[in-house]
Amino acid sequence: MAVERTQKPLTPALTEWEYAPAPEARELVSLQERYGLFIGGELVEPRSREWFPTISPSTEELLAEVAQAGPEDVDSAVTAARTAYENGWSALAAPERAKYLFRIARIIQERSRELAVLESLNGGKPIRESRDVDVPLAAAHFFYYAGWADKLEYAFPNRRPKSLGVAGQIIPWNFPLLMLAWKIAPALAAGNTVVLKPAETTPLTALLFADVCRQADLPPGVVNIVTGDGRTGAALVQHEDVEKIAFTGSTEVGKAIQRELAGTGKKLTLELGGKAANIVFDDAALDGAIEGIVNGIYFNQGHVCCAGSRLLVQESIYEATVAKLKRRLETLRLGDPLDKNTDVGAINSKLQLDKITELVESGKDEGAEIYQPPCRLPEKGYWFAPTVFTNVAQSYRIAQEEIFGPVLSVMTFRTPEEAVEKANNTPYGLSAGVWTEKGSRILWMAERLKAGVVWANTFNRFDPASPFGGYKESGFGREGGRHGLEPYLSFEGSESWGG
Ligand code: NAI
Ligand code: MG
Repeated sequence: MAVERTQKPLTPALTEWEYAPAPEARELVSLQERYGLFIGGELVEPRSREWFPTISPSTEELLAEVAQAGPEDVDSAVTAARTAYENGWSALAAPERAKYLFRIARIIQERSRELAVLESLNGGKPIRESRDVDVPLAAAHFFYYAGWADKLEYAFPNRRPKSLGVAGQIIPWNFPLLMLAWKIAPALAAGNTVVLKPAETTPLTALLFADVCRQADLPPGVVNIVTGDGRTGAALVQHEDVEKIAFTGSTEVGKAIQRELAGTGKKLTLELGGKAANIVFDDAALDGAIEGIVNGIYFNQGHVCCAGSRLLVQESIYEATVAKLKRRLETLRLGDPLDKNTDVGAINSKLQLDKITELVESGKDEGAEIYQPPCRLPEKGYWFAPTVFTNVAQSYRIAQEEIFGPVLSVMTFRTPEEAVEKANNTPYGLSAGVWTEKGSRILWMAERLKAGVVWANTFNRFDPASPFGGYKESGFGREGGRHGLEPYLSFEGSESWGG
């Protein structure tokens, strides 16, 4: 019997496969037109009478206006923090302090979707990251330090830890809520009050956190939030009634703050830039290493102080690694930060985009070979395609300077000694990664790498119990863990470091 065959197959072969859009609900966030400063438990108008717009970097859409705090405003915030410290907070029983921190942690969890959407909206990072990393880790920091609040005597046996007073805290725009948590949780657990200044491009989750404080019934003035640019930060650093400054940001500003504070007796911790080496040996499980490389440099568009921005590959597996890496880059999805399928979001600001562009141009000019997977950049907003540079000499600017963008520089090595030498050939020393099957080699490398954190067969892993911080131009002092309490305490009869 003759079977009639149709010319065309019934199901056409897939030529292109696309994800359907999966946007997280923006309606979870309701924004005010204008935000004042959070001082003494209230949002107040700035005495400066100055405001500035805050936008979404993925669309350039205006989100709200926030206050530019002047020196008088910073002074009111410090006074509010001082009053709260003297009138109750410093004398509060430690378990009571812990209760507030636990409450804040719980409220962050309860409002996690709202916080995640706002973080992605204001900062440009993919919702997958703000939802799965930033917000849960921020809550985890409050839970962790809540646990220490009534155990300081055990954290520092025989040293009689005492709170300092008012802490001034200045944070950057790459992990706005998480950096807030890194700063505020240990400061409050140690019995201090705080004035925190968020970065000028990402003030909104800090202002939502002000609402979290109110919801937690935190006594007025224990947490104060002053928005503004570098001038506001400088006024906070210079204020005479602040006992301690904690800063995360650029090495340039970190150095200026250190100069400013020299001789004042104020305590200081600095968490600055990095140019981490991610080192892959020929015995590493290569597919896993590729995931670690991608996570190391394209996570949060490379706006990460501990980003693995220098890839050191053992020469024998260089070709295979680069080929696999390029193939993996083709699968990264760049676009709407609120889409749950997005891997690479928007660059945080026009300023940062210009900096990345300039450094990438310098890489091309100096002779490195550039690779970018085919991807369509949205017309509005600030975007940069994931980029890999090969044929990079150690002297090139892209191998030396922090780019703080989705740009990887690949270099090679032959022996473990050479890997260590190249990895340490940087003024920074924040983090490093080692990929190898051999445990003994991991330990050998970790001993020699001048980096505050060395990840083995993983990258960009964070835990509130684990101290984080740098060597050399990456700063000093540690955040996280028991170590993270120390900069917020004084000890009887001993001067602690960083002061
Ligand atoms: P930045 O250091 O100027 O800003 C960080 C924070 O410091 C912001 O809140 C800012 O308002 C404040 N600030 C600025 N000038 C100040 C001053 N004189 N006194 C007190 N506070 C001040 O960093 P920026 O300009 O946003 O980024 C420049 C580069 O710095 C980036 O391209 C990146 O390489 C690096 N960076 C590193 C970060 C890290 O996590 N280690 C975070 C942000 C930037
Ligand atoms: Mg700056």
